[in-house]
Amino acid sequence: MTQQFPPTALAAIQAYQERHGTMPTVLARAPGRVNLIGEHTDYNDGFVLPAAIDRNTWVAAGTRSDGQVLATALDEDQAEDLFKLEANPPHHPESGWRDHVRGTLAQLVALAPNLPGMNLVIAGDVPMGAGLSSSASLALALLRAAQTLSGHETRSGKQLARLAQQAENQFVGCQCGIMDQLASAEGQPGHALLIDCRSLDTEPVSLPSGTALLIAHSRVRRGLVDSAYNERRQQCEAAARAMSVPALRDATLAMLAATELPDTVMRRARHIITENQRVLAATQALRSGDMQSLGELMAASHASMRDDFEITTPAIDQLASLLQGVVGSAGGARMTGGGFGGCVIALLPQALVPAAMAALEAGYRSPEGLPALVYLCEAGPGAASVHLDATGTMAG
Ligand code: GLA
Repeated sequence: MTQQFPPTALAAIQAYQERHGTMPTVLARAPGRVNLIGEHTDYNDGFVLPAAIDRNTWVAAGTRSDGQVLATALDEDQAEDLFKLEANPPHHPESGWRDHVRGTLAQLVALAPNLPGMNLVIAGDVPMGAGLSSSASLALALLRAAQTLSGHETRSGKQLARLAQQAENQFVGCQCGIMDQLASAEGQPGHALLIDCRSLDTEPVSLPSGTALLIAHSRVRRGLVDSAYNERRQQCEAAARAMSVPALRDATLAMLAATELPDTVMRRARHIITENQRVLAATQALRSGDMQSLGELMAASHASMRDDFEITTPAIDQLASLLQGVVGSAGGARMTGGGFGGCVIALLPQALVPAAMAALEAGYRSPEGLPALVYLCEAGPGAASVHLDATGTMAG
């Protein structure tokens, strides 16, 4: 992290000072992520290729002596949550961001019972509810902040990502995989991250220079996303059991053809098996600068999410095909994230960005008649934290 903190970080520091009458002693940051390819493969022990984006959740933090946590969310009208730090905290009646804070810190308390009480001020510019992992970025920023505050700076990015995932699985109630948390923990500027979700090995894959990450938000978000997500996961697990493999990562199309399965379950499994192959092929294509193949793989991924996994919506399909039309063979576009709305990612040469923006403006309106929201991002660094001195600048 550099000394030149961006406005969002400065806002968190200033709000901390106003609320608590002293400077925070730690500042932590963790990015959102965009997935280039490999959707729903993570909880099937498969492969994914996300990039951390240059939008972050920031946490300004300091200790307090009563063993409690007072968290303030600047982006929620300075709403607060005061709770006792413990391994099994109660849920907050309103759930939402407060449960992410409670559940995430509880994971750390279970490992480090002497964690001090703390004041936290949270601010960020990762769009919320867009499928860009604002909650994973919140969790990683909290874990980084708490770890640095307590002086136990020994846990790796992978370990912190696991804790953040467990908080989602056990406390928040979404049976998500590890992709978002690991991308937020270990992202690298200018690179995507090939993740093997079984071994958790990560390999940075350089993005061709002059490539833009254009993220177009459909402004569609279906309700009951968590239950639809959890249902997909159960269908994948059923298919793996039927083929007697530990996870769909270990299945092949030949095995699938030889197994009696209900049509829906067969198509869910076919998406995962083919998507894993596409992630590895896309990694190769990126490495060799073969943007045409990358674009074809992204288009095939989108079609598989639409037809086999059934997680796109008409608005998302329209956004993807608009962007694919502009990008042509110079890159690719597809839905990104868990699905049922959210965003489309286009990987394209910078020079095509104005044409893509014009096509979106002319050709897309959400079901409520709104234009797409566009985020132009770069692949940024993973989570980090620093100590601050009494003037609010980096210590040491
Ligand atoms: C959400 C989950 C991830 C992953 C994606 C789909 O973002 O949090 O673990 O499963 O959906 O690829």
